[in-house]
Amino acid sequence: MPDVAVSRVEHFNAAHRLYVPEWSDETNANIFGKCSNPNFHGHNYMLIVKVTGEPDETTGFVIDLKLLSDIIKQEVLMRFDHKNLNLDTSEFKQINPTAENIAIAIYNLLRSKIAPALQLKITLYETERNFVEYPAS
Ligand code: NI
Repeated sequence: MPDVAVSRVEHFNAAHRLYVPEWSDETNANIFGKCSNPNFHGHNYMLIVKVTGEPDETTGFVIDLKLLSDIIKQEVLMRFDHKNLNLDTSEFKQINPTAENIAIAIYNLLRSKIAPALQLKITLYETERNFVEYPAS
């Protein structure tokens, strides 16, 4: 069977602040702009989880999208939705919650829950115009 890619779209809202603790507020503001506001701010993230592989000979599914939805809900939405990513999560205690790092964290949370034979790709929109993909290719 040829490979087919299936995707699930989800949304979550979360607050963050991007900053380097060793830098002054002024330097942080120069580098990170509004995303370095000391009192945090929110984004409405759109997440696309793409799973690629051969459809099962019996079911015709690459992955049951209901199952994929449940995994995303359990691993990502319950962890990050309506949270302050800097303060409320363990994933971003030491690293900045940039879209890049959030996408990597989501990939790592989901990877072990999805069959190894299937490829996984995360696309994360932080705004309508800015999005990241991981893995990059
Ligand atoms: Ni921001």
